[in-house]
Amino acid sequence: MTGTRTPRRWLDRLEGGFDLIFTPRHNPLNQLGALGWFFYWIVLVTGIYLYIFFDTGLRDAYESLERITHVQWFAGGVMRSLHRYASDALVLVMVVHVMREWVLGRFRGARWFAWVSGVPLLWFVYASGISGYWMVWDQLAQYIAIATTEWLDALPFFGEPIARNFLRDGTLSGRFFTLMVFIHIGVPLFLMFLMWVHIQRHMSPRVNPPRGLAVGILLVLVLLSLIKPALSQAPADLGVVPAVIGFDWFYLPAYPLLEKISGLSLWGILVFGSLFMLCFPWIGRIRRQPVAVVDLDNCNGCGRCVQDCPFSALTLEPRQDGLPFSHQVEVKSALCMSCGICAGACPTATPFRRSKALTPGIDMPHRPLQEILGQSVAATAVLTGEDRVLVYLCDAGPKLADVIADSGVAVVCLPCVAMLPPPFMDYLLSRDHVDGIFLAGCRQGDCHFRLGLEWTEQRIARERDPMLRRRVQRERIGHAWVGCAHDVQLQAQLADFRAGLPHRRGEPPAKGVAPESSEPVTEDAGHV
Ligand code: HEM
Ligand code: SF4
Ligand code: SF4
Repeated sequence: MTGTRTPRRWLDRLEGGFDLIFTPRHNPLNQLGALGWFFYWIVLVTGIYLYIFFDTGLRDAYESLERITHVQWFAGGVMRSLHRYASDALVLVMVVHVMREWVLGRFRGARWFAWVSGVPLLWFVYASGISGYWMVWDQLAQYIAIATTEWLDALPFFGEPIARNFLRDGTLSGRFFTLMVFIHIGVPLFLMFLMWVHIQRHMSPRVNPPRGLAVGILLVLVLLSLIKPALSQAPADLGVVPAVIGFDWFYLPAYPLLEKISGLSLWGILVFGSLFMLCFPWIGRIRRQPVAVVDLDNCNGCGRCVQDCPFSALTLEPRQDGLPFSHQVEVKSALCMSCGICAGACPTATPFRRSKALTPGIDMPHRPLQEILGQSVAATAVLTGEDRVLVYLCDAGPKLADVIADSGVAVVCLPCVAMLPPPFMDYLLSRDHVDGIFLAGCRQGDCHFRLGLEWTEQRIARERDPMLRRRVQRERIGHAWVGCAHDVQLQAQLADFRAGLPHRRGEPPAKGVAPESSEPVTEDAGHV
């Protein structure tokens, strides 16, 4: 089991509930990173619009924002509110995203890079939002300006206290204000660069939420902007202590603490907290997983494994062993997450090959495909009954307990269901080892290894290499993407699948082979 056990089961149940409300595809909890990007783009676009009508300068800033809000409320006002609400939403999805990755243990191993690059994102998102509040130059801005500068003054870096600038009218220069505008534009742009770095080790990172979810959220934000537009407070007046109303708890939760503890203590908490977070990937029990191993004698350099690796751990390099292929594959061990998806992608991973041992071009040393095939054949040999089913279960998916209490069902575990090469299914069905094959894995839309479920579905649907041969009856292959906390649901779906097997419905016992098919048995049988 990966991740923190009990919270993970709770999370799984919660997300199962969200699936019912939103459907798995549109479940926002599966799309937090993508939603972070989405909100960032809204903030950027609305920010550009606001900047066009915004005047820098102490009094001009406030007045120009008032004009934007009230004179062109239907455009600028909505833009301003969208800017505010999308910024708040960015914080919200980011915080939930961090908690979720932590609960799921998705910061270990090669994932350390995403985690470590995520920590500065926290700082930059907050710096962007806080500097944004200054732009308004109302009483809240004045409060933030004074509190922030006093807080900065707690650091021993500034020769002259910068808070002094805010004590009296006239001492805060327009140029200082222009510097703040510069910061509020520069920091978010650098944030975008960091966000790009953050996803560099992911193959096909999800940076766009599904269209339905994006449109729905945008509509909600527009509606909110019309019902409750973002407004300024009274203009800043350095002659009086600001009365703070309408506090923003998304961006400013640390500020009330400054009234209880010293600025230096708050810096200590935040800096050590961040350093502690940076260490997460290396704290606790760390099991270094074995990495994929290439067998060059069986690799033709086709690159399918490179395309399927979710963690960009494989590269194609010029061939070096004299075999007549242009490329060979190489594993970047430090990036490998031990999911086995590459082995499932290799065209040489087929039991139909004539050579005795099954030696694919790439394999997992701790779970070689030869062993998985042997286990599958042995497990199915003892099955009895009319609807014998072999369940392939991914390690991060549901637990076995109730599933195996049936003489017609055998279970074989895999690191990820996408480690199963499609020819295995063909082989087991066409050689009458089983009547059906059932795949059980993580929750739909939330594969522990990111792309395993997607690749599996595409291979079976013949949309992605290696494709499941056309002759295999699709009714004999079922799946339940239910996650780790839904054993009952898994059982129910398995029972439905068995009841729906073609021979149960009175159809001819084709034993996995579609009657009309005349494909040769050697398709997908490797090219080496
Ligand atoms: C602006 C805020 C952030 C955005 C927009 C963002 C976005 C993303 C995206 C798009 C992914 C890839 C998802 C996928 O395709 O599977 C991702 C993954 C990840 N993020 Fe973030 N992220 C943000 C902040 C953070 C923070 C603050 C942390 C933690 C400190 C973090 C930790 C991670 C981790 C560990 C992964 C890897 C998950 C995996 O390998 O499955 N992120 N993030
Ligand atoms: S096991 Fe294969 S697919 Fe998975 S991360 Fe390692 S190289 Fe990539
Ligand atoms: S899928 Fe197999 S044959 Fe193709 S490059 Fe990878 S290891 Fe080599």
